[in-house]
Amino acid sequence: MVTVVVGMQWGDEGKGKIIDTLAPQHDIVARYQGGANAGHTVVYNNQKFVFHLIPSGLLHKNVVGVLGNGVVIDPVSFFQELTSLEELGINFKNRLFVAKNAHLTLPYHKILDQIEDNKRGKDKLGTTGRGIGTTYTDKYGRIGVRVVDFLNEEVFSRKLKVALELKNYLFEQYYKESIVKAEQIIEEYSKFRMRLKEFAIDVSAYINEALDTGKNVLAEGAQGTFLDIDFGTYPYVTASNPISGGACTGLGISPKRINKIIGVAKAYTTRVGMGPFPTEIEGDLNERLRTVGNEFGATTGRPRRCGWFDAVIVKYAVRLNGIDELIITKLDVLSGLKKVKIGARYLYEGAVVKEYPLDTEIFENVEVEYEELEGWNESINQVSKFSQLPKNAKRYIERIEELVGIKIAAVSVGSSREQIVKR
Ligand code: GDP
Ligand code: IMO
Ligand code: MG
Repeated sequence: MVTVVVGMQWGDEGKGKIIDTLAPQHDIVARYQGGANAGHTVVYNNQKFVFHLIPSGLLHKNVVGVLGNGVVIDPVSFFQELTSLEELGINFKNRLFVAKNAHLTLPYHKILDQIEDNKRGKDKLGTTGRGIGTTYTDKYGRIGVRVVDFLNEEVFSRKLKVALELKNYLFEQYYKESIVKAEQIIEEYSKFRMRLKEFAIDVSAYINEALDTGKNVLAEGAQGTFLDIDFGTYPYVTASNPISGGACTGLGISPKRINKIIGVAKAYTTRVGMGPFPTEIEGDLNERLRTVGNEFGATTGRPRRCGWFDAVIVKYAVRLNGIDELIITKLDVLSGLKKVKIGARYLYEGAVVKEYPLDTEIFENVEVEYEELEGWNESINQVSKFSQLPKNAKRYIERIEELVGIKIAAVSVGSSREQIVKR
């Protein structure tokens, strides 16, 4: 059985925590897209673990982690993360694998990502600078380097030279930056070859075989629906498909294999980096959500922009991803607000916008119609049953259900594993 977990907004919905709570019922947790741009936080025993490339379910000893072909792997980040998690006591022996056909993020991808984004000036995307877009560009440009290519020294050196030719021309002539020497990468990265070889497998074959023997797979999406390259707020998006369909192409499994799709949405909305955000709040309330919700990027430390829950985008994400169950996180962060608002509808030039508009020009200029609900003062961090939630918190959840058109299966009320209220 395959279950996919997808972010319903602009990332950082609390997917890491949800993956960690679902992992014990699964044998394999598999990342299907993105790279070290992700930052998935799991809090266990008051200890915080941040996963970037490594799947978030691996605090559970019997779970195997895999990085699918859809993921872009930066060997430097990968081994750094491995070492720091090992230092915190996680043992990865025989329980972590990477797809042979996943593409590698190499030093020039990171440099180019950063200088390209700076060059955009006021149109900057605010990428994480982790070389994500530039690695996928090379993948689709057919000049990428896959894990399997890297494992063969001769193939690696040949492909690297091809990939660097045009880039060095750009670095030198266009960006007036220093060039990147192939020999230097070949030498510096040789230490990763034998180590990476131990992890490299055919992930598609591995997962399909596991499914044939009745195992359960949890496909972990990174980023979120509105950062999707096809359906997000283009060009303010990432370079992969975080939506549920990405799990098939990013792991090498048939759509017929997917049994359940779980959407994770925050009780409000956040976004890091540039791009339109209709329900964004200005001023003190933004600060308040950021402080109480600790809304700072798990990867870059950047302050996250905060806003009200946007029912229009989440409704669209429910249909686009084929969500079976919606989980709302961080409801506790709203405790203590006198009033809480939900973005219920958009207006554009005076008319109601029926759907989330794919046209970014429209999306940037919609006017949001809010529904205002009474807030609640009680702390809800210790609540373990839905019926124990304050009346107004329940109303808030129920109103989201009505607007979005799907049952909310669970509500998260704190960062720890046990702080989750099932319906
Ligand atoms: P992800 O990228 O979707 O995995 O989310 P991040 O880890 O980047 O950001 C979510 C943050 O919220 C992390 O610091 C989590 O520990 C924290 N978190 C998750 N669920 C809850 C919750 O229900 N309440 C509170 N207060 N924090 C939460
Ligand atoms: P998780 O998995 C939030 C954003 C960046 C930027 C845009 C493009 O933790 O939810 P990129 O480096 O991917 O080319 O940047 O996407 N972004 C994220 N925002 N959470 C993430 O991951 C993100 N990964 C990328 O801030 O706006
Ligand atoms: Mg995150």
